Amino acid sequence: MASLQDNYGRQFYYLRLSITDMCNFYCGYCLPDGYQKKERDFLSMDEIRRLVMAFVELGVQKIRLTGGEPTIRKDFCAIAKTLSQISGVKKLALTTNGYHLYKNILEYKDAGIDNITVSIDSLIPEKFHNITQHNCLEDILAGINSAQQLNFNAVKINAVLLNHINTDEIDSFVEFTRNQNISMRFIELMQTGSNIDYFRQHHISSDCVREKLHSQGWQIVEREIDAGPAVEYQHPDYLGKIGIIAPYGKGFCATCNRLRVTAKGELCLCLFDSVGYSLRHLLQSDQQQSELIEFIISKLPYKHETHYLLQGNPGMNHNFAAIGG
Ligand code: 5AD
Ligand code: SF4
Repeated sequence: MASLQDNYGRQFYYLRLSITDMCNFYCGYCLPDGYQKKERDFLSMDEIRRLVMAFVELGVQKIRLTGGEPTIRKDFCAIAKTLSQISGVKKLALTTNGYHLYKNILEYKDAGIDNITVSIDSLIPEKFHNITQHNCLEDILAGINSAQQLNFNAVKINAVLLNHINTDEIDSFVEFTRNQNISMRFIELMQTGSNIDYFRQHHISSDCVREKLHSQGWQIVEREIDAGPAVEYQHPDYLGKIGIIAPYGKGFCATCNRLRVTAKGELCLCLFDSVGYSLRHLLQSDQQQSELIEFIISKLPYKHETHYLLQGNPGMNHNFAAIGG
């Protein structure tokens, strides 16, 4: 089987696939004015299926459906079901803002989703409302609770660390993992093309979390090959795990094992690249599979060793909703 390897010896087992740019939340660091664009020409179910079949042929084992908010698509469960039935897709993951999770969790399970990651930047309902402009924290937590009852392979929560907004809640987030088999990850706020002022006001290094975990006796867990970018920690007194995603940290890109495709079918070798490669013309019929595979392989040498975030350059990442978070 062909495999995906770049010039730095990194292999790619994990595809993050955006299926829509649209989102109904207003997170200050991403879509403070909400989703504005009118275009909806996102990849169709058949295009998505062909795309995933090609990546699986190239050794990808894990697919994460993301957005925007992927569950906004009316055919979301149909897409998930189709992908989960492709042999070679070992894990089908979902990143969601959790809206309607409670209502739809059984359907997600039936569609074959294995892992669910929900974004929650505050555990205080009023603050959650201020961040997202939605008053639904309690419903989302109920959805997470149901997900745990349904034995998903993994249930995770993402919180973006926001200085002056949620750094006073780090202990509550950690506490959340004490009696629940959940993975709580803290993500360092990343600069994008559209959030520079917000970034300057609210970026804080994740060292504050790391130091806290070390002082409390948390230990680093060994990584799996299709693991995401988080460094994970465990502690004998806690059922759950804590992850830290620190894109500004040294060596962050060395373990990169993932590629991205946007909702319009552009291959992005990095979240912060300045170019994308459209695959759409090769997604129009099942007969194009070998051409598609060749095309993907031919782009891998263009993957850079690291991003240029430290130089203040987020590439073409205007916001995560557009590129697939
Ligand atoms: N920096 C860090 N994380 C972000 N996310 C979206 N935009 C940013 C940003 N600028 C997060 C979301 C979601 C995940 C996919 O990415 O909150 O949890
Ligand atoms: Fe928030 Fe994600 Fe929606 Fe962006 S795409 S506004 S981060 S929920």
